[in-house]
Amino acid sequence: MVLDIVIMAAGKGTRMKSRHPKVLHRLAGRPLLAHVLATTATLGRHPTWVITGHGAEAVESAMVGTGASSVRQMPQLGTGHAVAQVVPHLAATGTTLILNGDVPLIEAATARALAEACGGQRLALLTIKLDDATGYGRILRSGDPEGGRVLGIVEHKDATAAQREIREVYTGMMAAPTAALKRWVAALKNDNAQGEFYLTDIVAMAVAEGVAVVATHAADDTEVLGVNSPLQLADLERRLQRRQADALLEAGVRLADPARFDLRGTLATGQDVEIDVGCVFEGAVTLGDEVRIGAHCVIRNAVIGAGAVIHPFSHIEGAVLGAGCLVGPFARLRPGADLAEEVHIGNFVEVKNSTLARGAKANHLAYLGDATVGERVNYGAGSITANYDGANKHRTVIEADVHIGSNCVLIAPVTIGAGGTVGGGSTISKNTPVEQLTVARGKQVSLPGWTRPVKAAKAAKGK
Ligand code: UD1
Ligand code: MG
Repeated sequence: MVLDIVIMAAGKGTRMKSRHPKVLHRLAGRPLLAHVLATTATLGRHPTWVITGHGAEAVESAMVGTGASSVRQMPQLGTGHAVAQVVPHLAATGTTLILNGDVPLIEAATARALAEACGGQRLALLTIKLDDATGYGRILRSGDPEGGRVLGIVEHKDATAAQREIREVYTGMMAAPTAALKRWVAALKNDNAQGEFYLTDIVAMAVAEGVAVVATHAADDTEVLGVNSPLQLADLERRLQRRQADALLEAGVRLADPARFDLRGTLATGQDVEIDVGCVFEGAVTLGDEVRIGAHCVIRNAVIGAGAVIHPFSHIEGAVLGAGCLVGPFARLRPGADLAEEVHIGNFVEVKNSTLARGAKANHLAYLGDATVGERVNYGAGSITANYDGANKHRTVIEADVHIGSNCVLIAPVTIGAGGTVGGGSTISKNTPVEQLTVARGKQVSLPGWTRPVKAAKAAKGK
């Protein structure tokens, strides 16, 4: 089918009370407009036009790489005027599907059904029945308000009291025969309550020309909800999160509470995964079989191997964890943290751009940055790699079976030889030999006969 897709996104979004264009506000971590563009992309490769106006530069830069084109509408004189701006770009024939940049959860199947209902011949409107239809355009039908022929749309502000009783509303999405749309849009007038060019007035024009007008419906109302205020955005966020949580539950993931779960990206899960309350997943996250995530973890762009346990309040980003790792509570794995199987990272331990081989442990209060850590290394509490000399980063190599005592500073570049031990409190600036104990700290001395000084005043009184 010859299909053009138009996404309206020029409006101001006054009720967001924000300096940023409405369609760039985020839902599940992605701009509202990105949700719509991702959905339209699944309909196939069709010319897609986004009408920009308020915050046009920002919206247009957010569109880079999406394949959609922008058409500016300056000033914004209504939805009909918006479509008039794009009309010269549309194909001569076929169907034009009109969606809204601030109605992010429209499903591809619903959009496709709307375009098919048009089929380049009929005017197809996506409608829904609402208990509270305040603010929406009402669908006028002949005779029976349920089943009669569609005659037109009347905007809330222009509607009579009787028309305001109508529950069936226009969702703001339609599909029109492109050739007729061009003609109709050119004939719109703005003699109405808002002094705007209403796209909805084309319905009565179609009826007058004897063009069939059909209504299609969305499967569920979440699909057609628009975002006009932070409250509506938050409501939609919870609905989307609940939808995602339910899909994971269906797949067998045990979420402690689907209402306290946030996914802002994609989550791939194995079998018998458990996720406690208050976790946030961002970007692309993969959890292997039997993984357990404790409460209040933030996990972004990570791969977590089978059987790993992440204790509460851990923050993991850009990390790969092998099977059976134990992490947290209060651990921080930063980009480039690459943990082999059975690695243990305990509380208040930060790991960045470091590989830890099988069975290595850093259990308390430590920093590993730009380090290569061998198998079974035990890295003591309070120890750090001094990886930055103020200008450049350097690597620390800790070979297999090394024990680093507590409170050591390993000044990179440096290599700790296999099987060696570094005594607690050491500052290591030279490579250490294998198998030996290396200690680099002041020698302990005790002074016999030493007495504590006393305060000067006290000393005088005592005389
Ligand atoms: C519109 C419909 C109404 C429908 C409702 C559904 C018209 C006249 N009315 O009303 O029947 O029930 O949506 O939400 O179409 N926009 C532009 N340029 C403009 C004006 C608007 O691009 O000059 C864009 C907005 O950014 C928004 C969309 O068009 O994405 C709808 O505009 P809005 O002002 O929200 O229309 P409503 O009054 O809600
Ligand atoms: Mg609106």
